[in-house]
Amino acid sequence: MSHDDFPTEQPAVVTCGLPYANGDLHVGHLRSYTAGDVLSRSLRKLGQQTAFVCGSDMHGTPIAVNADEEGVSPEAFATQYHEQYRETFPQFNVEFDNYGHTHDETNTELTQSIVETLEDEGYVYEKEIKVAWDPIEDQPLPDRYVEGTCPYCGEHARGDECDEGCGRHLEPGEIEDPVSTRTGNPAEYREQPHRFFEVSELSEYLSGFLDRLEGTSNARNQPREWIESGLEDWCITRDLDWGIDYPGEEDLVLYVWVDAPIEYISSTKQYSERVGADEYDWEQVWRETESGEAGGEVVHVIGRDIIQHHTIFWPAMLEVAGYSEPRAVCATGFVTINGKGLSTSRNRAIWAQEYLDEGFHPDLLRYYLTTMGGFQQDLDFSWDRFQERVNGELVGTVGNFLYRSLLFAYRNFGGTPEAELSAEVEERIEQAVDDFSAAVNEYEVRKAGDAAVKLAQFGNEYIQRNEPWKLDDDEAAPVIRDCVQLAKAVTVLIEPVAPGKAEAAWAQVGGEADVHDVTLDAAFEPPAATFDEPAELFEQVEDERVEELNGKLAERVAEAASDDDADDDGTESDESTDADEADVSDELEPLLEDRIGFDDFEALDIRVGRIESAEPVEDADKLAKLAVDIGVETRQVVAGIKQLHDLDALPGTKVVLLANMEKAELFGIESNGMVLAAGEQADLLTTHDDAEPGTKVR
Ligand code: MSP
Ligand code: ZN
Repeated sequence: MSHDDFPTEQPAVVTCGLPYANGDLHVGHLRSYTAGDVLSRSLRKLGQQTAFVCGSDMHGTPIAVNADEEGVSPEAFATQYHEQYRETFPQFNVEFDNYGHTHDETNTELTQSIVETLEDEGYVYEKEIKVAWDPIEDQPLPDRYVEGTCPYCGEHARGDECDEGCGRHLEPGEIEDPVSTRTGNPAEYREQPHRFFEVSELSEYLSGFLDRLEGTSNARNQPREWIESGLEDWCITRDLDWGIDYPGEEDLVLYVWVDAPIEYISSTKQYSERVGADEYDWEQVWRETESGEAGGEVVHVIGRDIIQHHTIFWPAMLEVAGYSEPRAVCATGFVTINGKGLSTSRNRAIWAQEYLDEGFHPDLLRYYLTTMGGFQQDLDFSWDRFQERVNGELVGTVGNFLYRSLLFAYRNFGGTPEAELSAEVEERIEQAVDDFSAAVNEYEVRKAGDAAVKLAQFGNEYIQRNEPWKLDDDEAAPVIRDCVQLAKAVTVLIEPVAPGKAEAAWAQVGGEADVHDVTLDAAFEPPAATFDEPAELFEQVEDERVEELNGKLAERVAEAASDDDADDDGTESDESTDADEADVSDELEPLLEDRIGFDDFEALDIRVGRIESAEPVEDADKLAKLAVDIGVETRQVVAGIKQLHDLDALPGTKVVLLANMEKAELFGIESNGMVLAAGEQADLLTTHDDAEPGTKVR
């Protein structure tokens, strides 16, 4: 690897965190896949030889647990999701050069050979540790087959992760009061030999590695803290049937996090074998040369929940096994939905398939996910913001500029008029190209996208300022020549973010070759002398659409909330593996640590109210429309209580209402205030004496 600016002499590989073959893809996953795709396309635009690889993560206890529950084999279970993902990614224009999976032959062989090298190099030892055991079934209970109490924070936790409390990764034997999630039997701890990888011996190497590492700062800072507080050795085996066998052991498989990242290499290898080593040589990328110098530019794109695995465990394995270390780790923030954590079990998510079924072009979501906010920041998705950004930047700026300039060129000149490109426009394009290149070298996907939008913005100003419609053809020719060049440059620059739309725009400017293959030089090449009548590239997202989509989402979340009790039988394991997701359980939510000041409380205008009328909202399963008298006025409020209360019995009931809640619109009905209620059953708060409507609650 070099630390030279891209493009470098060496081939690059961009990878994305492998999705667990364990559930449907949602907008949270798509954030890192679209970011990885934009980055790899951008590198190619710079002329960097780049492969973009990924694969499905087939192993791990959650998959075994879920397959068990469905009564199918883990392999059949995981394969079905693997196939689904392979079909879904291209529908978002996420085009991997190779998409394998961790259970295939390439990865099984490579994983076993790497583990053998770790052993040969003396970095693996055996140690007896306590493992959870079901004494009645006489079975080991690895990871998620057991739950109990976190030894660090006392919260209820899964065997391998404190998912409801402090978020720590838990090693086997750590969880307290273990109970089998399979049978509900209290588990015992038994001594069992397991294999450990001596990560602690590699602290010094890893510190140096982090000093060299490029990408986002979160991927360097967090691991530095972990190293400072002392690295623990890593248990790399599990008592499980499903996984890659530990070489030479019948009863143990490798921990899923051993073979998962190795798929990055396996997938590159498969690509290389398909196209031939002359075209792309995986060994040149991944193998260290004899002098210890490593080959290619390895860039990992992941979500911030798996930084530790990619900056500690993974480089430690690579170092000992003699493979190249990553040049960069880019860790994105998480995706939230309307300001709240994305939760698959609460159905507070935008699903990949759902988005496609709504008929939106994939590039709109790509644009939103990759250019909204900083890479490391959490990103909030809402249909309102989606509409705003599509209508504002894509329709209003990019689409508008391309359409008006190309239409003018077509109508008046049948294509590009003969004229010289002005120095002003040439320089402006150069600047955009420089901004783009700098952004890619900083792994700033958002800025790379901005370069195109800003250039289109300049184009709009330029056309406005020069008013070609007021000029005769001779005078208009140089202006329109400039505009067509700008249109071509915008198309080239926007390709990584919006490859589908760029393809359409490229055809409109009569671009030669393939817009996905051309480099930034194409932004300066003369546009076609003739082209066809252009069509508008982007469509507005209408208000009614947004309203309808917001309604659907609110409805779904409400529905999932009321289904909780039915589903939550304590053994149903959560299908999602999202780190940000609070598991649905009967237990009380933990108290919030953060205290608020009295001023914050004073900011809430809480009033006694009396319900005047309550009626169901048509088409919505959960929602009711209430009229609530709060003394000074009567408020219309939409509340999710339709099925939880007898609406006819509600008029006359006193309630407590947050009067200065932001107004919202649900199913086209304005909700002006929020009625307070406790728990999933929406137990309505009331007063017990004669406080009149309008009385302030403090
Ligand atoms: N299988 C592991 C990764 C192994 S990589 C050698 C895994 N799988 S996952 O399905 O949970 O997540 C796949 C990718 O999506 C990861 O990069 C993860 O960080 C990312 N995201 C999953 N949910 C996310 C959000 N809600 N928001 C942003 N990214 C998220 O982890
Ligand atoms: Zn904890």
